Amino acid sequence: MDIGLVQSSTFILCLLIHCTSGLTGDEDDYRRKVSMELNPGQSEPSSGVDVVHVRAVGSDDTLHFLFCNHRAPALMLVHTNSSFSNVHINWTAFLNGNYSGSLKVVPESSVQFSSALVFTRLWEYDDVNDTADPEHLPPSSFFPSYELQDFSWNIRNATYNLTTHTATLCGRNSSNSFMNGFLCLAFSAFESRGRDSEWPGLLHNANSSQLHVWLDNVIPRSNQSRFILEVQSVSSAEQKGQVDVLKSIDDEYTPSIFKVSQWVSSPSNASSEILGYTQWKPVAYRTEHPKFEDATPCRHSDPVLVSELPPSGWVQALFRDGLQTSTLNITFSIAGDPFYNTTNYLSWSVLVGLGNPPQDSFSPLVLTIMAVGLGTPLALILFGGVGAGIFKRNQHPQGYEPIN
Ligand SMILES: *[C@@H]1O[C@H](CO)[C@@H](O)[C@H](O)[C@H]1NC(C)=O
Ligand SMILES: *[C@@H]1O[C@H](CO)[C@@H](O)[C@H](O)[C@H]1NC(C)=O
Ligand SMILES: *[C@@H]1O[C@H](CO)[C@@H](O)[C@H](O)[C@H]1NC(C)=O
Ligand SMILES: *[C@@H]1O[C@H](CO)[C@@H](O)[C@H](O)[C@H]1NC(C)=O
Ligand SMILES: *[C@@H]1O[C@H](CO)[C@@H](O)[C@H](O)[C@H]1NC(C)=O
Ligand SMILES: *[C@@H]1O[C@H](CO)[C@@H](O)[C@H](O)[C@H]1NC(C)=O
Ligand SMILES: *[C@@H]1O[C@H](CO)[C@@H](O)[C@H](O)[C@H]1NC(C)=O
Ligand SMILES: *[C@@H]1O[C@H](CO)[C@@H](O)[C@H](O)[C@H]1NC(C)=O
Ligand SMILES: *[C@@H]1O[C@H](CO)[C@@H](O)[C@H](O)[C@H]1NC(C)=O
Ligand SMILES: *[C@@H]1O[C@H](CO)[C@@H](O)[C@H](O)[C@H]1NC(C)=O
Ligand SMILES: *[C@@H]1O[C@H](CO)[C@@H](O)[C@H](O)[C@H]1NC(C)=O
Ligand SMILES: *[C@@H]1O[C@H](CO)[C@@H](O)[C@H](O)[C@H]1NC(C)=O
Repeated sequence: MDIGLVQSSTFILCLLIHCTSGLTGDEDDYRRKVSMELNPGQSEPSSGVDVVHVRAVGSDDTLHFLFCNHRAPALMLVHTNSSFSNVHINWTAFLNGNYSGSLKVVPESSVQFSSALVFTRLWEYDDVNDTADPEHLPPSSFFPSYELQDFSWNIRNATYNLTTHTATLCGRNSSNSFMNGFLCLAFSAFESRGRDSEWPGLLHNANSSQLHVWLDNVIPRSNQSRFILEVQSVSSAEQKGQVDVLKSIDDEYTPSIFKVSQWVSSPSNASSEILGYTQWKPVAYRTEHPKFEDATPCRHSDPVLVSELPPSGWVQALFRDGLQTSTLNITFSIAGDPFYNTTNYLSWSVLVGLGNPPQDSFSPLVLTIMAVGLGTPLALILFGGVGAGIFKRNQHPQGYEPIN
């Protein structure tokens, strides 16, 4: 009977450990072999038009990421069912402005899915009444938008790293506002599952890439300025007409944020299968190394279909006309939060990837707390049972002596 109790306690403990390890998602150990190159196939020195190409090879497939700066900055993803697919660029055609077909992933028959996320516009408005509600402001509250296709974009040398698979693109226009300021996008690709060390600490895996976007040291055109970022997305599959907002765990990784937003693509026959996604936490930060109080919520608008491909030469090179483009706004801050002029800094992170978006889970800290909370009573039962057994045995020592 004592043995039975010990066994059942052990069983429950094992079950608990199994369940909690399931929550951390430890089984997701998919890895890819990642390599990065700048301007594949270009013999001449950089013409200011740059493509960072990441090749992430799986067991029998390849994921290509293309991070590029021609006009509006863009991140493209192409998934093939071959481990040998590669990128082919006709630089002569591209630089002559003959985009269509000048960028290909070959063999073309191996391409399974492709998508692009393009950063097209930055809006600035004067939030005089601190409503943070641009939809209900008169047009006169808006300054002329910054058209990101008109910015000059450069890869920052110091951040281009073939080992860590990271590259940063910074852009500005020559107006006074950007005299000392930049809009930057830092790209990262990953070999395996992990988490960014900086807030919002997005969870990533071998099928995803991350962009960290920040607006640094720009001179706002009013003291009460707030910003809106417009992004456009193209997909070879059907993009959902809305962004899903899922509950997330309030965790040490993204304190006080209980939600995760994701915008997914599925096969057009309306199956529930997800082919690709854009995922973010609805939060931005007002400093480079944020503290808790530097967080500011952000909102998204519903996606709206637009009739043209986004203003990126590379996206127009890869995607044929006829594919749907959708656009949406990310609106930073809420009423009562400090204006841009307090820190002159704003950052936001987004994940772009293949398949199902990573699901957040409890951190080891939270798990430890849970394990202590749930485990202590079990341990008491377990060791209580063993103790009782030993106690009983000690009571009848003779019972085990061989009978002579
Ligand atoms: C590149 O494109 C040009 C036309 O713009 C074409 O003449 C040339 O043959 C192409 N090169 C290759 C290698 O396909
Ligand atoms: C553009 O590319 C197409 C296909 O490669 C080619 O037929 C056409 O001549 C090119 N046009 C120019 C202006 O280079
Ligand atoms: C790759 O996909 C194409 C169709 O998209 C298919 O014809 C081909 O057989 C597939 N190749 C492999 C190796 O699965
Ligand atoms: C700000 O509030 C004042 C007073 O309520 C109102 O008259 C004005 O129109 C508001 N301005 C904007 C831009 O909403
Ligand atoms: C910079 O962007 C602003 C807003 O779009 C525009 O009004 C201005 O003309 C641009 N300046 C230059 C020099 O491109
Ligand atoms: C950055 O890289 C470019 C091209 O590789 C080079 O011409 C330039 O001198 C580099 N700049 C610095 C500051 O290292
Ligand atoms: C790339 O990153 C690695 C690891 O952080 C670092 O050791 C290396 O010096 C970096 N390389 C360059 C070229 O910055
Ligand atoms: C990544 O993609 C590959 C190929 O589609 C798939 O087999 C694998 O399960 C995916 N891994 C994760 C963590 O989503
Ligand atoms: C911002 O506020 C400061 C101090 O209150 C003032 O000197 C400055 O003129 C204001 N700037 C604008 C653009 O309104
Ligand atoms: C920011 O704007 C506020 C008014 O909204 C003004 O009082 C303050 O002086 C400005 N701060 C800076 C650093 O210009
Ligand atoms: C949807 O289409 C894909 C191929 O395009 C196919 O594999 C899948 O079975 C289809 N699903 C449904 C529910 O028809
Ligand atoms: C994005 O915001 C701007 C400025 O408020 C607005 O004109 C535009 O219609 C918005 N776009 C979407 C897709 O909501």
